[in-house]
Amino acid sequence: MRSPYRSIVVLTGAGISAESGIKTFRAADGLWENHPVEEVATPEGFERNPPLVYEFYNQRRRQILSKEIKPNPAHTALAKFEHEFDGTFLLITQNIDNLHERAGSENLLHMHGEILKMRCRNSQLVFDIHEDLVFDTTCRCCRSAGNLRPHIVWFGEMPLHMNQINQALQQCDLFVAIGTSGNVYPASGFYQTAKIRSADTVELNLEPTGSTFDEHKYGQASVVVPAYFEGLLATVHAPQG
Ligand code: APR
Repeated sequence: MRSPYRSIVVLTGAGISAESGIKTFRAADGLWENHPVEEVATPEGFERNPPLVYEFYNQRRRQILSKEIKPNPAHTALAKFEHEFDGTFLLITQNIDNLHERAGSENLLHMHGEILKMRCRNSQLVFDIHEDLVFDTTCRCCRSAGNLRPHIVWFGEMPLHMNQINQALQQCDLFVAIGTSGNVYPASGFYQTAKIRSADTVELNLEPTGSTFDEHKYGQASVVVPAYFEGLLATVHAPQG
């Protein structure tokens, strides 16, 4: 039997990177790395206190670039699947880390931005950044200081790549959500968009999130993600007849 699926969309959230050492967002204390989200993840927070916001993302950037942070078997399993699957595959992540690309994923969209990028507030041009960003860092396009901000989608801002994402969701026959609480719009509604064309929907998460997917598998991402995608590949590679 060949895999019944020809077009697969996968959405990942903070849960896939938890075992790589990056904290998830919705811990019981409601803080993101000890900061209230409205201070460090809203345009208003940035206007109020830019140095605090720069320093917060500098710390996140240093963390991502540290030797301890590496892709885990869940990231690797998704990259392997993408390379071996002969249908269409799109990976959408809400994560701002670079662990999917480090694992080898290619057709990847970061809908909430990327910690290793900064953006000019005048031109909207995006640049790579590995060093610390401070208020007087000179912008590479307009050559003036004070115009740069982290290339992160903050609360109240529009997620990136939404046209491409909606199109892929409406055309897919399988949608899989991994390690996301389903608390943040619009990603929380992706499984309903996928249902417009009757896609199968699957949730792989540590614990139930209350979303009505067709199928749920619970456990650590490093275990359930490789098991699920190896199973799918086995159906792709099984001899016909
Ligand atoms: N394996 C699988 N799932 C896990 C693991 C793990 N090892 N650890 C935690 N989880 C699950 C949690 O149970 C939870 O359901 O991952 C989910 C993480 O949820 P959130 O912290 O809410 O992260 P996410 O859904 O990615 O948040 C969405 O919110 O704050 C914003 O922009 C930020 O992109 C983020 C968005």
